[in-house]
Amino acid sequence: MSSTSLSGATVAVIGAGTMGTGIAQIAAQAGHRVRLHDAREGAAADAKAKLAATLDGLVAKGKLDAAAASATLARIEPARAIAELADAKLVVEAIVENLEVKRKLFAELEGIVAPDAVLATNTSSISVTAIARDLKAPQRLVGMHFFNPVPLMKLVEVVSGLRTERGVADAIFELSKAWGKVPVHTKSTPGFIVNRIARPYYAETLALLHEGYVTPEQADAALRAAGFRMGPCELMDLIGHDVNYAVTESVYAANYFDKRYVPSLVQRELVDGGLFGRKSGRGFYDYANGAPAAKPAASRRGDVAASAQLVLTDGRTAQQVAAETRQRDVAVFDWAIGPGGALAYAVAEGASEAFAQEVAQAIAAAGFEPLRIGDAPGLVVARTVAMLVNEAADAVQQGVCDPAAADTAMKLGVNYPAGPFEWLNQVGTARVVELLGALAAHYGGERYRTSPWLACRRLQERTA
Ligand code: NAI
Repeated sequence: MSSTSLSGATVAVIGAGTMGTGIAQIAAQAGHRVRLHDAREGAAADAKAKLAATLDGLVAKGKLDAAAASATLARIEPARAIAELADAKLVVEAIVENLEVKRKLFAELEGIVAPDAVLATNTSSISVTAIARDLKAPQRLVGMHFFNPVPLMKLVEVVSGLRTERGVADAIFELSKAWGKVPVHTKSTPGFIVNRIARPYYAETLALLHEGYVTPEQADAALRAAGFRMGPCELMDLIGHDVNYAVTESVYAANYFDKRYVPSLVQRELVDGGLFGRKSGRGFYDYANGAPAAKPAASRRGDVAASAQLVLTDGRTAQQVAAETRQRDVAVFDWAIGPGGALAYAVAEGASEAFAQEVAQAIAAAGFEPLRIGDAPGLVVARTVAMLVNEAADAVQQGVCDPAAADTAMKLGVNYPAGPFEWLNQVGTARVVELLGALAAHYGGERYRTSPWLACRRLQERTA
């Protein structure tokens, strides 16, 4: 099966829900005949009707011509039974996220489709290796992980399980490109690339909230200024705390309760209280009167001039720097790595109020909106970005993906303004490693341990 080509293949999509409908749409738009099946009677036909309305909308907006829309729709045939999928050369499964149900479906499919048909699963959290376990031909099962909404999100994670044949993964990779997507190869490990590397984006802010250093508004403003389209709190509110918490819990459990992925009591409270975010009307923010307006980021930006008393964070608190330098008036400020706007800073306890005001003025004079937060080690942006880089470095160390794939995945799967390895190049290995070291020293324990990949890169740089 090593030279599998799926161009022109009849594609079966199983599961006509949110993801399956989108997958059917893009496959049909790319010219494939699509058979759409769902266990629930009438669901596939309903999905096709919904798609017709979506395509009509695109035609009305001038984004699609009418002939293309009707040709796309004509290529999609609802199938009532899986026996009707026999001529499919590719099956993409997007049913309920349950290992046993998926195993059973693929076992049944083996008796229906041709021996050389490719079987793909859109699972976002289940091991591809585990889904393939009982198959007669496990080498033809591969993960094809799309992002929601499928027609708009460019990324596809092509997930190889232990027994997936490389040619099969390559065929899905090529097909994804033909469908207008940007694929990346990854291994079947918890969270694959995106859902794994993204954990610290939520976790660091949840830790800062838990320890009382910031408000949700402050964390969001700081990270928006670093270039993220949405701050972590507004993003968790959008995703839904129930969903986001469940992903964190599953990654945590799947990693044998590694403390790096530990879920947060702050989020647990929201979930327990039914404060899921936008969909329930309240999460970190109140949506009773629509979404709270995000403050626009200031457009000017400069560099904050560090002085003996105002220093760029290296992960130590202002108080620690004050104690170590025997100065009273000390402040630390955050990494300015984005388009600008808010810039977090913290002032040592015991510093004078006049000094604190001078610091705010210096930050404002450099074109930033001064954002005074509690004296948190690594402030907001620095610790979040350092931990994203650390997680990405571990993923590369463990062979989950290469650095280029990690960068592509984070930019296209969750719209990050830069990839983790791009940040690493921007900030420098020394600074990232130093910050992680300070966090590890401050908190103790496992959470902030430096990835061996980063430690090794740092050594190479020092000996070069
Ligand atoms: P959904 O609930 O919208 O749709 C699932 C559909 O599958 C339903 O219409 C259901 O009737 C059907 N179904 C359930 N069991 C079936 C079976 N045995 N045979 C045939 N049809 C069956 O779910 P959604 O969100 O589309 O997710 C589907 C898969 O895609 C899951 O594995 C999920 O983890 C994954 N995924 C979801 C993403 C999302 O943002 N919603 C993103 C990426 C992956």
